[in-house]
Amino acid sequence: MNEHATMEKVVNLCKRRGFIFPSSEIYGGIGSTWDYGPVGVELKRNVKEAWWKAVVTGRNDTVGLDASILMHPRVWEASGHVAGFSDPLVECKKCNRRYREDFLAEPGQCPDCDGKVTEARQFNLMFKTFMGPVEDTASTVFLRPETAQGIFVNFTNVLDTARQKIPFGIAQIGKSFRNEITPGNFIFRTREFEQMEIEYFVKPGEDEEAFQSWQDARLGWYVDNGIRAENLRLRPHDSDELAHYAKACVDVEYEFPFGWSELEGIANRSDFDLKQHMEYSGKDMTYFDEATRSRYVPYVIEPSAGVDRPLLAFLVDAYDEEEVEGDRRIVLRLDPRLAPFKAGVYPLLRKDGQPERAQEIRDILKEHFPVVYDQAGSIGRRYRRQDEVGTPFGVTVDHETMKDQTVTLRDRDAMTQVRIPVDRLVDEIRRRIDPRTRDR
Ligand code: GAP
Repeated sequence: MNEHATMEKVVNLCKRRGFIFPSSEIYGGIGSTWDYGPVGVELKRNVKEAWWKAVVTGRNDTVGLDASILMHPRVWEASGHVAGFSDPLVECKKCNRRYREDFLAEPGQCPDCDGKVTEARQFNLMFKTFMGPVEDTASTVFLRPETAQGIFVNFTNVLDTARQKIPFGIAQIGKSFRNEITPGNFIFRTREFEQMEIEYFVKPGEDEEAFQSWQDARLGWYVDNGIRAENLRLRPHDSDELAHYAKACVDVEYEFPFGWSELEGIANRSDFDLKQHMEYSGKDMTYFDEATRSRYVPYVIEPSAGVDRPLLAFLVDAYDEEEVEGDRRIVLRLDPRLAPFKAGVYPLLRKDGQPERAQEIRDILKEHFPVVYDQAGSIGRRYRRQDEVGTPFGVTVDHETMKDQTVTLRDRDAMTQVRIPVDRLVDEIRRRIDPRTRDR
């Protein structure tokens, strides 16, 4: 566990520096919904981009998809979500507050007033709404509780157009909604969140091997993007916690300040979903295997991650505090590829043409990666501000720059500074961002 990071410190930093704000804050907020600010949105885009690169553009056996949130209601009957996507809900007989039964610290007892709670009843987590101008049962639709079904219903469309042969995967990123009974822990459990999901279709009998190799690949992705391996683990599900569709499931867990918790589930969904959609839609979704000249319903391995939970893990793992010359420095040691901005550009003084030159350099760098310009306050304070948002490099323009066209390049982690010609800056920063050429 990261001993420096408490949830309170991370939440405060997120608010203070523009990562994440409570939603509708001027109206007092709306329970457990959050907005990503100017810094957070960059980090979120980078997390999604790192995932997309690893599982779509960086592979030859996966393609992307962007399915809609609203789907035909029969989808959710076929998938089993109408009948079975529920959590056990109990209500306190004294204060009437409602809880998820399996989240109670003391079984049968209200955590707020010590009253007795009712027997549990199953509460379906899907949000309902109406499609079109008539509000009746016929027009009821659901906000998708997982992006996965958009992939399954498009299986034959993709197969017919993408010219992929099994084994292959379809990946997508998008919003999902669950009317969680007990949301909490900041962006860890919310009612609106984003998912990054892959459905990897394999020949039955080859599922176990693919299941294993996706576990290795997905665990490796978190480490490759900067999370310390000792704060991650794979946890196989017991048979009584398996989802209705799963033959087996392993969670990637991270040790948050509130304990080991799931970032991603990797499930062997067998042929459950495609078979269900074949039955409910009456459409053939079998795969024709040219080698054996026979048809089969593929099995599916599903690495299913959130966006928000991994993002929280990246923040928590990167959070650090240290003493520097009698001062406390807070620094986010984010992998430079994930960092919202790659460099801060600063004039040492607000005179002698330094701000203008610094702005010119900012514009040169901006062509290549996101950078910020800051001329307010002492140079030390400006460095600290960017340390707190994880900006890996600082470029300072001073009186020397005006004479010899060199700047100082500061490293966020080591706080070392080197002098470098302006015309080498882009290449040098790029080299330091690239993990293959980094000197650390
Ligand atoms: N398609 C399979 C599926 O949705 P899941 O384990 O229910 O599986 C996958 O969800 C991932 O989605 C989780 O590991 C988590 O990262 C994210 N997730 C699920 N519910 C969430 C919630 N209420 N808030 C934030 N993220 C959530």
